[in-house]
Amino acid sequence: MFEALNPLPQDPILAMMASYQQDSHPQKLDLGIGVYKDDQGHTPIMQAVQLAEKALIETEITKSYTAPAGSPKYNQLVAELVFGAEHKVLRDQRVISAQTPGGCGALRMGAEFLKGCSSDSRVWVSSPTWANHIPLLGGAGLAIAEYPYYDYSDKTIQFDAMLAALETAAAGDFVLLHGCCHNPSGADLNKEQWLAVAELIERKGLIPFIDMAYQGLGSGLDQDAYGVRMMAERMPEMLVATSCSKNFGLYRERTGTLFIIGNTAEQTQVAGSQLFSRIRSHYSMPPSHGAAIVETILADTALTKQWEEELASMRQRIQTLRQSLVKKISASSIANDFSFIEQQFGMFSFLGISPVQVAQLRTQYSIYMIDSSRMNVAGLNDQSMDYFVAALEEVIR
Ligand SMILES: Cc1ncc(COP(=O)(O)O)c(C=O)c1O
Repeated sequence: MFEALNPLPQDPILAMMASYQQDSHPQKLDLGIGVYKDDQGHTPIMQAVQLAEKALIETEITKSYTAPAGSPKYNQLVAELVFGAEHKVLRDQRVISAQTPGGCGALRMGAEFLKGCSSDSRVWVSSPTWANHIPLLGGAGLAIAEYPYYDYSDKTIQFDAMLAALETAAAGDFVLLHGCCHNPSGADLNKEQWLAVAELIERKGLIPFIDMAYQGLGSGLDQDAYGVRMMAERMPEMLVATSCSKNFGLYRERTGTLFIIGNTAEQTQVAGSQLFSRIRSHYSMPPSHGAAIVETILADTALTKQWEEELASMRQRIQTLRQSLVKKISASSIANDFSFIEQQFGMFSFLGISPVQVAQLRTQYSIYMIDSSRMNVAGLNDQSMDYFVAALEEVIR
């Protein structure tokens, strides 16, 4: 039977990573994969994580099964981090939470839940969006529709076009929004735009599904959660998927959370029963180690402070890299305006060069990024910045 199968192409980012590993160029530069890197080009284990892990090894007494929802304490602490401890939806018990295998697990289980609510509804995603959104949501059987989002020529959000597209959505459709640090563009909605989107979603009876995979890596833990918290104040029903991969550096530990907000506490409980039953039939229960680390950190004031400081220095490093890059480019012979890079948030921005120029960077300079020219700014450092700008000068010339 298997002889009839056709080989599928490798994921372009993973394929690029394999070529990067084999490249022996001494100045090779990985600006492709979406992980935070420090000045030495490493993706370090945060100290708060190391301390929590140590404490866990000493105190953990069982590896027995948990529940489909994972750890209640983890769920509560992450809910407070995402919504703010005093948020009305938490007080009114209108949030049900599930610890999930990463943000991907949260997105997929959210999509499975939504598909069970309404098989006819479409999910609207930004154009462009993170490539994995399509298989994660579409794989649950949801039909995908797109709203315009990033204007490649202006380097800004096509906000009027976004609203005009969402005006055509049918009541009951779902709208996927990026909570902060839009992947791949780095272009985030401002507060006024968030409010206008909320007004439209409310008026048309749509259901927001917010993916917040980068809380704390844009402007700050609270600032980055503005959209989620404001929407949660107003919307009768909503979903939020979050990830601890980036802000806790727990990528391979697969730690995320799915929140479902219902109209009443009773309806939320029922929604939870639907979600947990779906989780049981997919992977039964989430992996525990990463969530136990996060729980240990967030339950301890000193560890939380340490984690927040480490996260702040990661965020500041990204902001400084954005500023230095713009400065160096404008001091070079490159005439094009790259100042948009300074105004964007999180790890990603589109450089705005062609796929041919991206290929030239790769083949002639061993600088790796995906064909769309999305670059991971955190992949740069003080040593590589001049090399990168000189290479860019050559390919743009
Ligand atoms: C926009 C976005 N959402 C969700 C995720 C999922 O992250 P993970 O499953 O690694 O926690 C990512 C990871 O790159 C992402 O960029």
